[in-house]
Amino acid sequence: MIKTRTSDLIGRTPLLELSVADGSATVLLKMEQYNPTGTAKIRMARNMVDEAEAAGLLTPGGWLVESTSGNTGLGLALIAAERGYKFTAVVDNHSCTDKLRGMRAYGADILNVAGDEEGLATAERDTVAARLAAEHGAYWTAQHNNQGNPNGYRPLARELHDDLGDGIDYLYGAVGTGGSLCGTGRVLRERIPDLKIIGVEPVGSVVFGGAGAPYHQSGTGTPEGSEIGDVVDYALIDEGVRAGDSEAFETCRYLARNFGVLIGGSAGGVVYKALEQAQRSGPGTTIVVLVCDGGEKYLDTVFNDDWMAAHGLFDAQVVHRLAALLR
Ligand SMILES: Cc1ncc(COP(=O)(O)O)c(C=O)c1O
Repeated sequence: MIKTRTSDLIGRTPLLELSVADGSATVLLKMEQYNPTGTAKIRMARNMVDEAEAAGLLTPGGWLVESTSGNTGLGLALIAAERGYKFTAVVDNHSCTDKLRGMRAYGADILNVAGDEEGLATAERDTVAARLAAEHGAYWTAQHNNQGNPNGYRPLARELHDDLGDGIDYLYGAVGTGGSLCGTGRVLRERIPDLKIIGVEPVGSVVFGGAGAPYHQSGTGTPEGSEIGDVVDYALIDEGVRAGDSEAFETCRYLARNFGVLIGGSAGGVVYKALEQAQRSGPGTTIVVLVCDGGEKYLDTVFNDDWMAAHGLFDAQVVHRLAALLR
């Protein structure tokens, strides 16, 4: 079928079954990197704009602004380019270069609020986005508190249900804003009441109450001191678990080298936790993993030996464990 806009290519992403060890549950990866911009987040970006237009909050020629580590920004940049909006991404030095270059390619303005600080400046980013909206009439999509974010994943839930019917036991996903996991999980739970929804955050992120510490998994979790928005629906999530940076990144590297599967850093952590679940659950159980993005955006970090070594992220024990969890 011939499409007329890039955004018409969003969705109907493939499911990829991992080759797990004998005696394990089935693990299916929902490969969201096959969306335009290479991430699930384009789904919510389009929907937040759709809902804002429907509510009269955005008018032709308007200005969109968002505080974003990159993937939401890529989505908004593409939609803004298609619909003729100006888009400003408020970022810090945690964003990976390729995501910033991608946003620029779609014509977005990048506003870095972090100065020389290396880490996340999520709170500062939000303050600047709010100020642009208040003082200059831009529309701040405010992804952490905007129900247009989770609502954007309703089609994803329908895709999973179309492909798998009621045969899904666990839904595993990263939690940053919580939009992808909660938006998908909410619709699926209506159809599959016994579905277990498991949120995965980096060790050091504080979404599920652990101690705060720096982490390298980009785009996911909430660092200490940043607000957790309404989009994280704790009533919906059965359990929150944590993946360390080494677990996440060794999983990405292992999948790339042994199976030719190139996924992003946050997804590596989710897959690792899902594989542990698969071993505990055994055959007859189906676990779906939301893979937020692909590994192409992390070739300078997760897939770069020097970067891994410089940050002390290699861990032979994790590799050994992966060899036992996978076939
Ligand atoms: C790479 C990556 N992983 C995970 C997430 C978390 O997704 P969500 O905000 O839907 O919780 C994001 C969000 O931007 C992301 O960019």
